[in-house]
Amino acid sequence: MNVVDVTTEGRVGVLTLNRPGALNALNMQMLDEITVALDRFEADPRIGAVLVRGSARAFSAGADIKESQPRRFPQVFVENWQAGWSRVADCRLPMVAAVNGYALGGGCELAMSCDLVIAGQTAKFGQPEVTLGVIPGMGGTQRLTRAVGKAKAADLLMTARMMDADEAERAGLVSRIVPDAQVDDTAMAAAQTIAGFGRTTMQLLKETLNAAFETPLAEGLRVEKLAFHSCFATPEQAEGMAAFAAKRAANFHHE
Ligand code: HXC
Repeated sequence: MNVVDVTTEGRVGVLTLNRPGALNALNMQMLDEITVALDRFEADPRIGAVLVRGSARAFSAGADIKESQPRRFPQVFVENWQAGWSRVADCRLPMVAAVNGYALGGGCELAMSCDLVIAGQTAKFGQPEVTLGVIPGMGGTQRLTRAVGKAKAADLLMTARMMDADEAERAGLVSRIVPDAQVDDTAMAAAQTIAGFGRTTMQLLKETLNAAFETPLAEGLRVEKLAFHSCFATPEQAEGMAAFAAKRAANFHHE
């Protein structure tokens, strides 16, 4: 039985985490299914964005603790266990996380690996790994710190407390808060908007945005300049600017 429902809606690829009984705990099967789906979405020119969502009680309560419990250092080190989750952050398509309920541990890290995070009013974010005698291993110590700053990150990582959606938005972890019942629709609308723009433009934009997190300013500005100039080699720039001049809506998709 699959643990991720993979569907498409218009130009949006949708990943619905589907282990509600385990609060969508992330196991290896889930990673395998997400990896296959992302490979497929990236290879399909009709897909321009990816939406990741969970269920009402949880986006995801983190890595599957029951799957994790028997593991020991030599095995996890040699297997480079959990490293496969970088596939999500490495996805070349824009990704939108729709977060209802808990986004804890690996669940919070999964949301942070996406570009936009749309959260419900009662969503809860946290990195409670220390309660299990471990530290985050899917990017939490790095992405959380870059997203919310060292003081707030240290508070969350070291005390294991959860923050609510308001605090997460103030801290810069969340893009928008909406009523819980509107999370999926709002996230889908954002993903459809993104997917409506040029696919190449969006991939250049994502690479440039990520450079802001990964490089010093001068290097990031160099990446931006290269990417910006590259836009002028795309049919999308020709169409977007021609449409503006002709006072009509741009159509970036001719397939
Ligand atoms: C496996 C999990 C799980 C998880 C919840 N469940 N989180 N199973 N891995 N991360 C399961 C529970 O065992 C239970 O299964 C069912 O989901 C419902 O959870 P309850 O605890 O009964 O619900 P509730 O009382 O409402 O509490 C919700 C909760 C709590 C506060 C979110 O479930 C919780 O604290 N979960 C763990 C959160 C966490 O520590 N996440 C970080 C994981 S570590 P049964 O079968 O009993 O009904 C991580 C990175 C480190 O992400 C990597 C190594 C682990």
